[in-house]
Amino acid sequence: MQVFYNIHELKLKLAEFAFLDKTIGFVPTMGALHDGHVSLINFSKKQCDITVCSIFVNPTQFNNSEDLAHYPKTPENDILLLTNAGCDFLYMPSVDDIYPTDFHRTFHFGYLETILEGSSRAGHFNGVGQVVSILFDGVKPHKAFFGSKDYQQVMVVKALVKQLNLPIEIVSCPILRESDGLAMSSRNMRLNVQERKVAALIPKLMNEVIGMIELLDIEEAKKWMKHQIENEPLMTLDYFEICDAESLHELKEYDSTVSTVLLIAVFVGKIRLIDNLLIS
Ligand code: PAF
Repeated sequence: MQVFYNIHELKLKLAEFAFLDKTIGFVPTMGALHDGHVSLINFSKKQCDITVCSIFVNPTQFNNSEDLAHYPKTPENDILLLTNAGCDFLYMPSVDDIYPTDFHRTFHFGYLETILEGSSRAGHFNGVGQVVSILFDGVKPHKAFFGSKDYQQVMVVKALVKQLNLPIEIVSCPILRESDGLAMSSRNMRLNVQERKVAALIPKLMNEVIGMIELLDIEEAKKWMKHQIENEPLMTLDYFEICDAESLHELKEYDSTVSTVLLIAVFVGKIRLIDNLLIS
């Protein structure tokens, strides 16, 4: 695997493959890679001729400086993991390579940026739009692969591609889970032993809600979840919503004919984790 630190050098290299009509698959990440990321590389390798990964902890998508400062960084391990996964090229830019001046593009995603991650993390999706649009400009992928743990992010990136009229297919890939059900996340490595144990409650409670959703109404189910989380001293609920999976509009009543998604954000100690479950 060849590693690039400069976008112009990466562009020159990728132009060789574009000239040969090779398809380029792209996996943008913030590093601290785990098997969930490897699965995205595997999807790309199956569907495209060349796979490019990027590792960049994008400051403009963090609204909390402590979260940015403590975001895990494991570059040597990441390079090893990507090499073993058969990734072809890695782009590891500096902040200056992505943002050479103070100018930042501004994006608006309407309703999508007013709910859930959008309302809890002001400016987050604008920051995601900024970095993903710059990365797409540089890599010019045919397909880009994103994990569906960030359910709303996938919708935002699809909206971005539409707004910019880019010929890029956004592929949403399944969530990978640990053996106790916890969704894989780079942030999991910041949990201490006790917090890590408790974090497994998140998928467990979501699955319990699915089991009771036809009996309880949606408000009752949400109250039940809030109560369960409040009972666990190490956890604080940010949000738990039950939404139409296509639009992310909150559902008032469960209707088994409507594709439905449960979305949750929970602080376990100081670490904020998100997860979701689709009921089709
Ligand atoms: O999901 C992530 O890791 C990041 O939000 C992304 C898409 C790489 C943009 O920084």
